[in-house]
Amino acid sequence: MASKEISFAFSIIFILLISGFVSAQLSTNFYASSCPQALQIIKSTVNAAVNNEKRMGASLLRLHFHDCFVDGCDGSILLDDTPTFLGEKTAFPNVNSVRGFDVIDTIKANVENACPQVVSCADIVAVAARDSVVALGGPYWSVPLGRRDSLTANFSQANTDLPAPQSNLTRLISAFAKKGLNANEMVALSGAHTIGQARCISYRNRIYNDTNIDSSFASTLKVNCSISSTDDNNLAPLDTVTPTNFDNYYYKNLLVEKGLLHSDQELYNGNFTDAQVNFYAHNSGKFFKDFSNAIIKMGNISPLTGTQGEIRLNCRRIN
Ligand code: HEM
Ligand SMILES: *[C@@H]1O[C@H](CO)[C@@H](O)[C@H](O)[C@H]1NC(C)=O
Ligand SMILES: *[C@@H]1O[C@H](CO)[C@@H](O)[C@H](O)[C@H]1NC(C)=O
Ligand SMILES: *[C@@H]1O[C@H](CO)[C@@H](O)[C@H](O)[C@H]1NC(C)=O
Ligand SMILES: *[C@@H]1O[C@H](CO)[C@@H](O)[C@H](O)[C@H]1NC(C)=O
Ligand SMILES: *[C@@H]1O[C@H](CO)[C@@H](O)[C@H](O)[C@H]1NC(C)=O
Repeated sequence: MASKEISFAFSIIFILLISGFVSAQLSTNFYASSCPQALQIIKSTVNAAVNNEKRMGASLLRLHFHDCFVDGCDGSILLDDTPTFLGEKTAFPNVNSVRGFDVIDTIKANVENACPQVVSCADIVAVAARDSVVALGGPYWSVPLGRRDSLTANFSQANTDLPAPQSNLTRLISAFAKKGLNANEMVALSGAHTIGQARCISYRNRIYNDTNIDSSFASTLKVNCSISSTDDNNLAPLDTVTPTNFDNYYYKNLLVEKGLLHSDQELYNGNFTDAQVNFYAHNSGKFFKDFSNAIIKMGNISPLTGTQGEIRLNCRRIN
């Protein structure tokens, strides 16, 4: 009978959903019974690190971005190089730049103490990013969990897929589109540059050559960032007004041509993204909401789930 066939078809669909699709989803209560203390442990370790050095909150947030944009959110960025293994740490966007690995190690050690080999390094990075944003005054979001850790890293993809600060708007949009994120989400996620620091090598070209920059802002930056390569590693805040507060000053700065990176100012340079920048500059609530939704989506980029990958014992190496 037709109704029997229909219910049979529904049973098949149901089984497929349960066995395949559903098990590949992350869920916010993933560790509720296997490690109920995990979230509290991560939060207190992040808070201690951020109290010790505010910038660490920015560094931990960036670590999540650089993890997710290379082979998905799988903890691959945490793997150290060995004589026989090339990780992502020496790729151009990461070398002498990404930081926070010691904090991740401390979190991992504390979590392992409570629940041996249950909580992945990739999930720790995702939660540490959220807790960092909260610690610096930004929005809270529930982090979907259940990512597993990679057995591999991809040096060449770190070089090609992490966007460069010289990027124009078109390139920024396409770098995010490649990861399933649209232009609006790219503009919202760029608001992460409301905290943290950049090296002179990342903004030198902008302060000497760009014309869409406030001239006194550029002059001030040149003091510590001369054209000599000896200044390459000197730092300047990405948000010159409130560098350790997660707020909407990043967008307010763009309105007055005080974006630090060329890529930042591209978001407000006479193209269609200007409207969104202007909106966030006047509505931090909307920025917080859009940022939270976009970072959850970023955190969903190709996670390893189920029996894929492993739960590393030490985030710096595969088991
Ligand atoms: C839109 C494209 C992006 C580009 C071109 C870009 C580029 C950069 C560059 C060049 C730096 C300074 C690195 C250095 O000089 O050492 C930086 C810092 C930073 N980025 Fe991005 N970024 C982008 C998007 C993002 C996103 C989506 C996030 C997070 C959601 C993020 C979070 C950060 C943070 C927090 C810092 C400061 C890190 C610290 O102080 O340790 N960035 N970014
Ligand atoms: C690294 O990623 C690139 C794409 O960016 C891919 O072609 C390559 O096969 C990957 N390498 C490894 C070792 O997974
Ligand atoms: C953006 O940059 C790419 C390559 O970096 C270049 O091919 C393209 O012409 C640029 N687009 C615009 C609109 O400037
Ligand atoms: C505006 O952005 C679009 C999409 O990236 C690009 O095609 C166009 O060339 C840009 N216009 C200008 C003037 O840069
Ligand atoms: C400014 O642009 C010129 C021409 O592209 C380049 O040769 C020079 O190195 C740039 N200056 C800086 C400080 O980046
Ligand atoms: C230059 O660097 C020094 C040392 O880090 C810092 O105290 C100072 O505020 C910086 N000056 C400017 C104009 O950024």
